[in-house]
Amino acid sequence: MAQTATVENPLMLGLPEEKRPEPFALVIFGAHGDLTKRKLLPAIYALYVQNLLPEGFAILGTSRTEKTDQEFRDSMKEAVIKYSEDLEFDEGTWERFAPALYYRAGDSKNLDSYKEMKSTLEELQKSRGTMGNHIFYLSTPPSLYMPIVTKLAESGLAYKRKGSEPAWPRVVVEKPFGHDLPSSIELDSTLHDVLNEHQIYRIDHYLGKETVQNIMCFRFANSIFEPIWNREFIDHIQITSAETIGVEDRGAYYEEAGALRDMLQNHLMQLVALVAMEPPISLDPESTRDERVKVLKAIRPLSPETIDNFSVRGQYGDGFVLGNRAQRYRDEINVSPESSRETFAAMKLYIDNWRWAGVPIYLRSGKRLAKRLTEIAVQFRKPPKQLFDQLGGSIYHEMPKSESPNVLVMKIQPDDGISLKFATKQPGPTTQIRSLTMDFRYGTAFGSRTPSAYERLILDALIGDPSLFARSDFVEASWILYQPLIEHWEKTVPGKSNDKGSEIHHRPFPNYDSGSWGPPESDEMLAIEGHAWREL
Ligand code: BG6
Repeated sequence: MAQTATVENPLMLGLPEEKRPEPFALVIFGAHGDLTKRKLLPAIYALYVQNLLPEGFAILGTSRTEKTDQEFRDSMKEAVIKYSEDLEFDEGTWERFAPALYYRAGDSKNLDSYKEMKSTLEELQKSRGTMGNHIFYLSTPPSLYMPIVTKLAESGLAYKRKGSEPAWPRVVVEKPFGHDLPSSIELDSTLHDVLNEHQIYRIDHYLGKETVQNIMCFRFANSIFEPIWNREFIDHIQITSAETIGVEDRGAYYEEAGALRDMLQNHLMQLVALVAMEPPISLDPESTRDERVKVLKAIRPLSPETIDNFSVRGQYGDGFVLGNRAQRYRDEINVSPESSRETFAAMKLYIDNWRWAGVPIYLRSGKRLAKRLTEIAVQFRKPPKQLFDQLGGSIYHEMPKSESPNVLVMKIQPDDGISLKFATKQPGPTTQIRSLTMDFRYGTAFGSRTPSAYERLILDALIGDPSLFARSDFVEASWILYQPLIEHWEKTVPGKSNDKGSEIHHRPFPNYDSGSWGPPESDEMLAIEGHAWREL
């Protein structure tokens, strides 16, 4: 039975005004899919448990699969129990939450489904006090984004909200936002035909991670790092996002996407922007988003002459990952046995502005690598004179020549935290220099539960705060940067046509073993500059 709704949840009153969502109905397209089970429902439930939702709310799941409200509630309960890793499940709390869940099967290309959805939402407005505020979450294959948005508009469910209108429609779009530059422009223009920019929430879940949000706090809430955060003191930056998993059951998606579109074009570019941007003039959403876009636009475009020395692609062969045998990518389900899709990508970027001129930023991301780890490593310049080398047995004998004694590492996951490496004297009668690390770990420092990225982002979309979402010009600037590479990789086959004139020897796929750190080409790319990837 529906509860009687009131506008405010009294337990939320302790929160600042701007952090209290208004009553709402959240419609999830693709409610039968994996993301809904693994991430969305556990996040919404966690918000409920923490009293961060208003009393008037409803979740309406929709997809093609027929099921009743009760079946939907049961499957979501199972998902919440399975995927809410650090939240203890409480039967009583679930019983209070579950009546807010509804389900209607529908065809996302058929206008009649939207008319039915509209009348369901009107009923929910009365029975659950959702006040006509609607948020549509597109968690479907990307090919459905445009048809859904168009039908939402035709049915009157989505429209450009005027300031005076009491209720609002918003749309949350999952990545990838398009497949390349032209398709992303087309998607964006469809969205803008129907909604104002402030009603569009493009999710990049990396922006919702606590450790990613901390990059800005670390840089701009302290005074000691910013003066040395530039080309005078920083030698280069390495950003790694390594996964041990393969493509699992997402072969069909991955054959279309590959590592470049799946990770570099979005998640890693957000990390580049946060680590390299100028301080925003205020924390209002547009100021911070302006700075993120500005730095992206300063990245040097890839030119046909340098492209093969600035980029590397790889595909996993078989091998062992964490002691388990892993099959090669070409043997995965829904993957072509001759696939030339990359499961690893690495790049070298230069930001041509005053702060970063001449400082290489290296990016790499891949599946089936040796370890699951995401980090940003800022390598500072070496001291101008290597005084202690004269003594022998110094730190420089232990570490690769390419590595600096001072590295600041922002660990995004796992073991999230920050560490700073520095050289120190080992106690004893001789001067022996050793490398030490000063470590800060979130888990031990705060001892509290870290909210998931989706919790934060869903809450922000409900509140109407777009700060941690990708703005349309950011997405476009990133596609502009990657478009030449996408076209180049489509036209060439590794190990064949694109070897000419390249200092890197690009070998045919598969070019790295599962459980390794990717293809040797990625090491070659850094070696050209006298650098090496950190040993992780
Ligand atoms: C997703 C990609 O966006 O991010 C996946 O589609 C990838 O392929 C995932 O595995 C990585 O996210 P996280 O939070 O585990 O680093």
